[in-house]
Amino acid sequence: MKKFIVYMALFCSSVLSSMGQEVAFNWPYQVKDGTIVTEVPQRPAGQQSALGLTAPKMKTVRVGFVGLGMRGPGAVFRWTHINGTEIKALCDYEAKRAEACNKYLRDASMPPADIYSGEEGYKKLCERKDIDLVYIATDWLHHFVVAKYALEHGKHVAIEVPSAMSMSEIWSLINLSESKRLHCMMLENCCYDFFELNSLNMAQHGVFGEVLYAAGAYRHDLSDFWDAYWKKDADDKLGWRLDYNKKFRGDVYATHGLGPIAQALDIHRGDRMTTLVAMDTKSVNGKMWAEKLSGKACTDFANGDHTVTLIRTEEGKMLEIHHNTMTPQPYSRMYQLVGTTGFANKYPMEGYALSGAEMKKAGVTPSADDLSGHSYMSAADRKALEKKYESPIIARYEAKAKEVGGHGGMDFIMDSRLVYCLQHGLPLDMDVYDLAEWCCLAELGSVSMNHGCMPVAVPDFTRGQWNTVKGYRHAFATPEEEAEVDKASAEFTAKLKEKGAKYWKKAKK
Ligand SMILES: NC(=O)c1ccc[n+]([C@@H]2O[C@H](COP(=O)([O-])OP(=O)(O)OC[C@H]3O[C@@H](n4cnc5c(N)ncnc54)[C@H](O)[C@@H]3O)[C@@H](O)[C@H]2O)c1
Repeated sequence: MKKFIVYMALFCSSVLSSMGQEVAFNWPYQVKDGTIVTEVPQRPAGQQSALGLTAPKMKTVRVGFVGLGMRGPGAVFRWTHINGTEIKALCDYEAKRAEACNKYLRDASMPPADIYSGEEGYKKLCERKDIDLVYIATDWLHHFVVAKYALEHGKHVAIEVPSAMSMSEIWSLINLSESKRLHCMMLENCCYDFFELNSLNMAQHGVFGEVLYAAGAYRHDLSDFWDAYWKKDADDKLGWRLDYNKKFRGDVYATHGLGPIAQALDIHRGDRMTTLVAMDTKSVNGKMWAEKLSGKACTDFANGDHTVTLIRTEEGKMLEIHHNTMTPQPYSRMYQLVGTTGFANKYPMEGYALSGAEMKKAGVTPSADDLSGHSYMSAADRKALEKKYESPIIARYEAKAKEVGGHGGMDFIMDSRLVYCLQHGLPLDMDVYDLAEWCCLAELGSVSMNHGCMPVAVPDFTRGQWNTVKGYRHAFATPEEEAEVDKASAEFTAKLKEKGAKYWKKAKK
């Protein structure tokens, strides 16, 4: 067939600058054979892939936090419960928010952290020599600017979701992580929830056969939150999150739904997302919120109340991702795995479906031989299956995660795994290519919808290496190495607490 190639050099020029940062959906693309293809920048000569990237082992992980609004303080609290870490600095635009977080260090008998504030306070934090990791929980417009500066100053970065808002930010972070040989991880906590971790372990052991279809979502009515997000000044009526939704179409918060299923489908570890198509509803409640908070008529709210993205993979699998933060509905991340021999589902009903024969193949004795894959298995069967396939990560962290908390414990497990991998010099659970794949739905979905829901090619962010690693796996140290690091970390933290106790006693006088 004659190839029909139209070069369009189109620019969909949504630019958000009202909050002092420039974010734009303007990555170059062309239309080839009815599919939109975005530009893939060449890897600069001499630059290596960051696949399997490791950094020298760290005895202690010294961290600085940037962005301490509703989300950030919980991270500071959690880190005071992780041995072998030291919180060196706290930064927020508003000094009071940063200062308030020193209470968690005081409660844990740890020395106080240094405080930074203002629009560019993070720069001084990133320039410090005694910080290994910058942990970023600002509004979306500051994720990239802070991460870029931190990477340029030799720091590993962990960035809240979504870590990058546009293709331009995504490719910049990839190039920075590759060229600086520094970790750039998205803090996708939903990969560490109990049902997802156990189901991932089952998928990795073939319990569901070949997983062909997976669904994920962020369906969360944010009515209680729209007015609570940070507002820069009196002129900022909407707050950053509603403002962003007003200006940008596409799934701007895809990662909670996509992350856990992408891991189960071995994305860039043997398979890759090749094409996506997005579709949304008109905006009704989004507009209503903009009018309510601004007191003005709103005619141009870009983000649909409900957005769906369908993604096809190289291996002929399919992913379906939903985003809806606008309408009343029970909270749901969907999370569904449909395999050739089994099924897992989390919302609205949690459970597994396998036949008796498949249960036996999986090494579990079913309660009845005629157990059918047509319905959810009983609680007893599920318990037996989960016991056999308990994730080693849950086995190690469950008790403490439930005590410390953070979305039921998954946030603590995420932070603990990050520290574990850094201490043992292992590849992190999520690399910069995961970040890229899970964040690209925003701009690519927007481009798809702006062209009548045209298919968009999802670029190979690994630039040729998506099939080098066979199967997604978490990295682990040996039990001996674990014991040694755990002991040294406990000793370090005990000494730090002695120092902190002295400081706070003196400060009280
Ligand atoms: N993973 C999860 O489950 C989860 C849950 C909630 C929020 N989040 C993410 O966490 C991030 C923060 O969300 P939030 O609810 O805390 O928002 P928020 O509006 O409560 O807080 C944002 C904070 O960023 C600060 N900030 C703005 N500019 C800054 C700058 N230049 N330097 C330092 N600080 C700056 C603001 O002062 C504010 O305190 C967002 O990316 C959000 O998507 C993730």
